[in-house]
Amino acid sequence: MLTKQASIGMSPPNPIGEDLISHWLLDPAIRFLNHGCFGATPKVVLEAQTALRRRIESRPVEVLDRGRDPLLQEAKQAVGEFIGAAPEDLGFVTNATGGVNAVVRSLSLGPADEVVTTNHAYSAIRQTLRFVSEHYGPKVVEACIDLPIRSPQTAVEAVAATVGPRTRLVVIDHITSPTAVLLPIARIIELCAERGVDVLVDGAHAPGMIELDVPSLNAAYYTGNLHKWVCAPKGAAFLWVRPDRQKHIHPNTISHFLNQGLAEEFSWQGTRDITAWLCAKDAIDFMARFGWERVRRHNHELATWAQSRLCRLWKVEPATPLDGSMLGSMATVPLPEAAENLGPIEELQARLYRDYRIEAPVIEFQGRRWIRVSCQIYNTAEQYQQLGEAVLEMIR
Ligand SMILES: Cc1ncc(COP(=O)(O)O)c(C=O)c1O
Repeated sequence: MLTKQASIGMSPPNPIGEDLISHWLLDPAIRFLNHGCFGATPKVVLEAQTALRRRIESRPVEVLDRGRDPLLQEAKQAVGEFIGAAPEDLGFVTNATGGVNAVVRSLSLGPADEVVTTNHAYSAIRQTLRFVSEHYGPKVVEACIDLPIRSPQTAVEAVAATVGPRTRLVVIDHITSPTAVLLPIARIIELCAERGVDVLVDGAHAPGMIELDVPSLNAAYYTGNLHKWVCAPKGAAFLWVRPDRQKHIHPNTISHFLNQGLAEEFSWQGTRDITAWLCAKDAIDFMARFGWERVRRHNHELATWAQSRLCRLWKVEPATPLDGSMLGSMATVPLPEAAENLGPIEELQARLYRDYRIEAPVIEFQGRRWIRVSCQIYNTAEQYQQLGEAVLEMIR
């Protein structure tokens, strides 16, 4: 049964431009509805990265050693401006998983402590917490946020009910991975602050998907990917740490500048390819050609419309309100009941790809099957309609 909100988001947004996929290397024969998985990097950004790699290879010591600091400073300045943060409060990391690892492995958590996360946590982050628990003893507890979720308050209440006197850290997604829910992290951080508990935000999907002013959230730690919705090269992500917590946080690779402050320590994590970090600015600038605000609005409206369209087509209840108030640029939609009989989920996803040229992740959550669609400016409304019909055809 659909709710009466089903009419909301009934027409898709106007495309931002024609044939935008030609700016990417993506195969136009594939209906690529999975930008959220690894992101995708525009050609001009990859070209900038190749040019930078050539520069490094032509004068390795000049660029990577003597020239590194101004290059990193410029890159951090650009990323900082994009997320509202001061460059000195940021360190580059390879990915959000690395950002989370750096924090939870720096914190000296012990058997007396508890770490709270949710049942929507990304599997790699759950494993990281499991590792820390097995090696250092803190107990990991998951707040259960059931789908469908009707209002942000449900998530706030679920976390509030799970945080207890032993909780030292809450690890919360800004936008959840399998379920694509935009969580009310500002209110969650506030409630944790009232109880003296620090929050680490896993913002893997947030930069580029929603407008960000990281310091104003007042979390202790915030990590975000640049290679997903900012479209930077793979291996670009950041960790922001509130100034009063910086002293205790170290990169996963300890190197020359141990205990010399966050900016110094993260500026050298052993010899490595730093071009993805340095090209984050090229990605920010490329997407800015379309207007960041316009990109975010387009992608959000397309996700809101796609959720509504697929729910109507499949006659299923949406996971989040149909007005899109708990979505960014992705939506996770329950598959019709009959899709339970279509073999293992991996096979279902592979069939969609093989027979319909549709790339979208099929997941299992709360004992049923869902599909997550991502919306980027190169996607078209028609592609979600094709996904909807493909699933119905497979069921028939
Ligand atoms: C919520 C969340 N956290 C962490 C990650 C991991 O990102 P990465 O592989 O870039 O570390 C993802 C990836 O999709 C995610 O959705």
